[in-house]
Amino acid sequence: MKSRFRLAVLGAGRAGMVHARNAAGSVPGAELACVVDADPVVGHKAGDELGVDVFPNLEEALSGAGFDGVVITAPTFAHPELAVLAAEAGKHVFCEKPMALSLADCDAMAAAADKAGVVFQVGFVRRFQPEFAEAKARIEAGEIGTPMVVKSLTRGPGLPPVWAHDLRRSNGMLAEVNSHDFDCVRWLMGSDIERVYAETANFKGADRGVTAADFYDNAVVSLRFVAGSIGTIDGTCPADYGYDARAEVLGTEGLLVVGDNRAVPVLEIRTRGLGEAPTWSSWPQRFEPGYRAELAGFVQAATNGTAPLVGAADGRAAVAAVIAANTSWLEGRPVTVASPAALR
Ligand SMILES: NC(=O)c1ccc[n+]([C@@H]2O[C@H](COP(=O)([O-])OP(=O)(O)OC[C@H]3O[C@@H](n4cnc5c(N)ncnc54)[C@H](O)[C@@H]3O)[C@@H](O)[C@H]2O)c1
Repeated sequence: MKSRFRLAVLGAGRAGMVHARNAAGSVPGAELACVVDADPVVGHKAGDELGVDVFPNLEEALSGAGFDGVVITAPTFAHPELAVLAAEAGKHVFCEKPMALSLADCDAMAAAADKAGVVFQVGFVRRFQPEFAEAKARIEAGEIGTPMVVKSLTRGPGLPPVWAHDLRRSNGMLAEVNSHDFDCVRWLMGSDIERVYAETANFKGADRGVTAADFYDNAVVSLRFVAGSIGTIDGTCPADYGYDARAEVLGTEGLLVVGDNRAVPVLEIRTRGLGEAPTWSSWPQRFEPGYRAELAGFVQAATNGTAPLVGAADGRAAVAAVIAANTSWLEGRPVTVASPAALR
């Protein structure tokens, strides 16, 4: 009997526990080998719940546990070192978005995976989420003609983790929250982003005790694509009322709306009190099928030696768009996105 594909989850925080629980029971052909966390309290809590070994760092896991692939769910600034070390040890790499903070780090990670001949997949879960995948298939089938305008938004209920408040350690909310949108619009429109213009605003940070300079909790980005199409991305975190992720693509022959579309003229969802409509409360709930499918896709690609659905070039393209958008709002001008990577 073929043995199971063993996964080590690196970082047992919010995203790490979603993937660790899926690896432990919901991904065909896979099993959870161990968890690694720099914080022993967090690591042991995860190990106790999931019944697996716990290690304080990747080096000790590499010598203490047998596994085939890693799921990198440590904070973004730690992704490059973990990805390169794992690839050099011959482990397949699933890396959460954003791939890294700089294009140089993206290139080093991709080069290490290429050199080792391992699969490198980026955690853009929307590509595996049924309604988003359905929209992409309909666009490719020509159902709405040529895509002209795209809108994509993500709103998270609460503040991101403290490390993500700091622009230098996270690239800010545009990276932490809107990386998904930057990838999703590029994928749905079938074109790289050529130019961006971003505006940001900070409404709730100070009241929630965020002291990091340059923190913002709202952003809107205008986009021009290489193909000539245009669009917008917006993000808010904390939104409080729930987790909200939607997209709309307007083509020459029709409109596709992805996400909730209720038959009411005005939809109001309040944070407190009367008038609440049912909505998603969190991202693990909103994208539950997608998180399972993306890990299953990674295991399949690694097992069969095929290219993953979302590769390093996709992760790099989103990082390039985030860096351009951050430069745009900091300098108050439209910015051309650096060397768009080829679509694949
Ligand atoms: N795809 C998604 O929808 C999604 C959702 C949330 C977070 N993320 C991404 O996942 C990553 C983690 O975010 P989070 O919100 O889970 O963060 P978190 O702060 O909740 O968890 C990170 C964990 O990593 C541990 N850690 C730090 N350095 C480490 C290292 N070198 N090795 C091992 N463990 C280490 C920390 O102790 C912590 O427990 C980020 O890149 C984030 O953008 C993706």
